[in-house]
Amino acid sequence: MPMKKLPLLGGLTPRQFLREYWHKKPLLIRQAIPGFQPLLSRDQLFALARRDDVESRLICHFGRQWQMRHGPQGDMPPLEKKGWTILVQGVNLHDDKADALMQQFRFIPDTRLDDLMISYATDTGGVGPHFDSYDVFLLQAHGRRRWRIGPQKDLTLVEGLPLKILKNFQPEQEFVLEPGDMLYLPPHYAHDGIAAGECMTYSIGFRTPHYQELGEGFLQFMAESIELPGVYADPDLQETRHPAEISKAMLARVASELEKIRFREDDIAIFLGEYLSEPKPTVFFDPPPRPLSPARFAQAAARRGVTLSRKTRMLYRGRHLFINGESFAMDRADKALLTALADRRRLHGTEIPSASEDVMDALYTWYRDGWIELA
Ligand code: SIN
Ligand code: CO
Repeated sequence: MPMKKLPLLGGLTPRQFLREYWHKKPLLIRQAIPGFQPLLSRDQLFALARRDDVESRLICHFGRQWQMRHGPQGDMPPLEKKGWTILVQGVNLHDDKADALMQQFRFIPDTRLDDLMISYATDTGGVGPHFDSYDVFLLQAHGRRRWRIGPQKDLTLVEGLPLKILKNFQPEQEFVLEPGDMLYLPPHYAHDGIAAGECMTYSIGFRTPHYQELGEGFLQFMAESIELPGVYADPDLQETRHPAEISKAMLARVASELEKIRFREDDIAIFLGEYLSEPKPTVFFDPPPRPLSPARFAQAAARRGVTLSRKTRMLYRGRHLFINGESFAMDRADKALLTALADRRRLHGTEIPSASEDVMDALYTWYRDGWIELA
């Protein structure tokens, strides 16, 4: 990735942005994407919200009531009615242009990027004053939205509501965002965005796995790989007057066996790669309906190149390659090509003839599974 000054970051280099703002303080970038036009129409967004493989929430703030409805959505409230919004998660998984927009944020690693959420709101619509536990870039795509934000420490929520609303919201700054403007907010920064007329906002969100979740996942992963040979034996067993008691000798013997369970950084790398490359449960791949034969595929790939499916998550660490929750050990000779595919999400046709037989086999399997596509 070239680390030059980006208009997307208001003329900062990614390095400057990460050092000064990331996780630290908000940044308002006027015309981060000059002349930005919405990538999907309102109707296309509503159509996504009706699908059962797309996560969405309809939030209505009618009168003083807050209501939330999870998707798949049926009818939307009338467009003339004020005060409602629909939020559609993971749009980058379903639309090439949305995916391309997400790619502009790849100065941040894929392990941290989550998804592109698009919200549509009628006048005064919004999700109320709240905070998120992750960083977010809020790009205004259509119409105007008034953001009020504040660094408050009091993150108490109103009880009994279907969504997280701050009890004592104390905004300190206010901005009206026009199409192309973008606001970066660090985690836990209080904010409230209210539509000023019909509007659409794109949120580029980040993943923040909880350590508890990682710990539980890691122990499950290790359970599949530990090896403790032998069975309990006690040739020195002593008679007992407390038959129900677990003896000290037994405890010590089992403890010394269990202490043999060790994990190395490599185990953590494999766990993390499988965990972070696992697609969300709502993700289904679209295998080609009439796949080419392996030979035809190789010819077509050499002509056209291959790209990762929008839905594919591909990562690597050292000699380990991870794709959609699976891990592979790469041969030294294959590493350059496979890591190029992961970093660039595509291989040019001219690169294909240098692929080993193993790599061609893997590419073909991934093609049949819908994980990669002919470019
Ligand atoms: C929205 O687009 O209305 C909400 C985004 C957010 O506040 O995180
Ligand atoms: Co938010």
